Amino acid sequence: MGYQIALDGPAGAGKSTIAKLVAKELNFVYVDTGAMYRAIGLNCLENGVSIEDEEAVTDLTNNADVTIRYIDGEQAVLLNGRNVNGLIRTPEVGNAASAVSVYKGVRTKLVSLQQELTKTENVIMDGRDIGSVVLPDADLKIYLDADVKVRAKRRYDELIAKGMDAELSVIEEEMKERDYRDMHRDNSPLVRVPEAVLVDSSYMTIDEVKDAICSKFKEVVKNA
Ligand code: DC
Repeated sequence: MGYQIALDGPAGAGKSTIAKLVAKELNFVYVDTGAMYRAIGLNCLENGVSIEDEEAVTDLTNNADVTIRYIDGEQAVLLNGRNVNGLIRTPEVGNAASAVSVYKGVRTKLVSLQQELTKTENVIMDGRDIGSVVLPDADLKIYLDADVKVRAKRRYDELIAKGMDAELSVIEEEMKERDYRDMHRDNSPLVRVPEAVLVDSSYMTIDEVKDAICSKFKEVVKNA
């Protein structure tokens, strides 16, 4: 087993941007677990399965083939053999992902897939339950947070840059709802485990956050 860095935090804290940069600098594989939950959410939306119907969502998920591939170093999520990366970054799919991620059956399937991916590689994995459930023995655990207003503005700017329609106040409200649901669900809620290093990215640049995590990791290795 290689080195493991667990990166958890709420929506829009910058986890995936940071994880990609850290992975590049340390030559690690980046595993984006949110993308897997998004693929499950998308599958429900596409098949007209109500995200409130636990049994139907679990059935559909158990019959779905979710696979991770690395294409030119980028993670691609294959849903029943189809690369869905281009379809999962909308707020609608994000909300569906949050809704279906409360179900035990969904989590069990995705967690074992995620653990499988760490068997041979050095990984940085981001999500909500990485330090608490998926990689409880990770060499370094980071909890990346930021003020909700800052997070909403970042998401808004991202959507506008992609040419999508967006309203800042709506994004902020949806983000608060999503945070609440992710933190209060029964199954593996988002928590900051005591050993996780808290990084508040509200007023830090992307490079500052990346450097902070890389130096923490180097410290851990040196002291091991
Ligand atoms: O990180 P993200 O916004 O792509 O995640 C989408 C949703 O998936 C998030 O609101 C909650 C869920 N999720 C989860 O429950 N556990 C994870 N490890 C990752 C994401």
